[in-house]
Amino acid sequence: MLEKIKESSRFLSPFLKEKHYPIGIILGSGLGNLGELMNIEHAIPYVEIPHFPVSTVEGHQGRLLIGQFGNKNVIAMQGRFHYYEGYHMQEVTFPVRVMHALGVNILFVSNAAGGVNTSYQTGDLMIIRDHINLFPEHPLRGKNIDELGPRFPAMTDAYSLRLIQLAEKTGRQLDIPLRKGIYAGLQGPSFETPAEYNWIRVIGGDAVGMSTVPEVIVARHMDMECFGISVITNSTAHADSIKTNHKEVQEIGNQAQPRLSELLKGMLQEL
Ligand code: HPA
Repeated sequence: MLEKIKESSRFLSPFLKEKHYPIGIILGSGLGNLGELMNIEHAIPYVEIPHFPVSTVEGHQGRLLIGQFGNKNVIAMQGRFHYYEGYHMQEVTFPVRVMHALGVNILFVSNAAGGVNTSYQTGDLMIIRDHINLFPEHPLRGKNIDELGPRFPAMTDAYSLRLIQLAEKTGRQLDIPLRKGIYAGLQGPSFETPAEYNWIRVIGGDAVGMSTVPEVIVARHMDMECFGISVITNSTAHADSIKTNHKEVQEIGNQAQPRLSELLKGMLQEL
């Protein structure tokens, strides 16, 4: 894997022109257009990057964007790889390894998620303060590569308190209401049954989705500072009226996009 990471980063590093790009951003379902607000220096389709998997799911565009956002140099993934698409966890998280190899040390991750907390409403933004890993495969399973990080990395501070506080401050300044809660990540691709939504509520989840957890685990393995945010695209508060569907998830994701971009931009300007 180390060799593959090196080859991908050797391919990409000429695009950086020896400048430092400290910020990585992973744009989730229906949020990819945030990339259009960036000053894009390079947009590189994943298919052109050695060893990168190729995104298959509808609504994901599959390009690595290099440029500026909130006057910071950023590398953004427009479209991510999901476990449910059939990739192994090492493939799902490979781009995070490559970003780190290119010098990224702060990772922003966004996603669409189902609201499990009964007070959440469709369209809410939720700062992820912690996660529950319910995926059946762990991205760090197998021989540990000591050059990348420790065998048993701590996950007690997976989501940076500094960045959570910055988000809260920026949210207040920009008048963007924010929730703060726990993201439960599971494999999908079916949405949950009412009983499963309830189970996630009982074990302490506020939101549920099919991404983010693997990427954050791998980022923390390499000691990157992480910030995660969920767009609550569907409510699961009333068990008898749950009708989660992908179209709705994408539409609500799109509607939330301007607020999410504004928040991230405000945060980056302050960093
Ligand atoms: N469950 C899982 N993933 C999701 C959901 C959901 O209800 N909504 C958006 N992504």
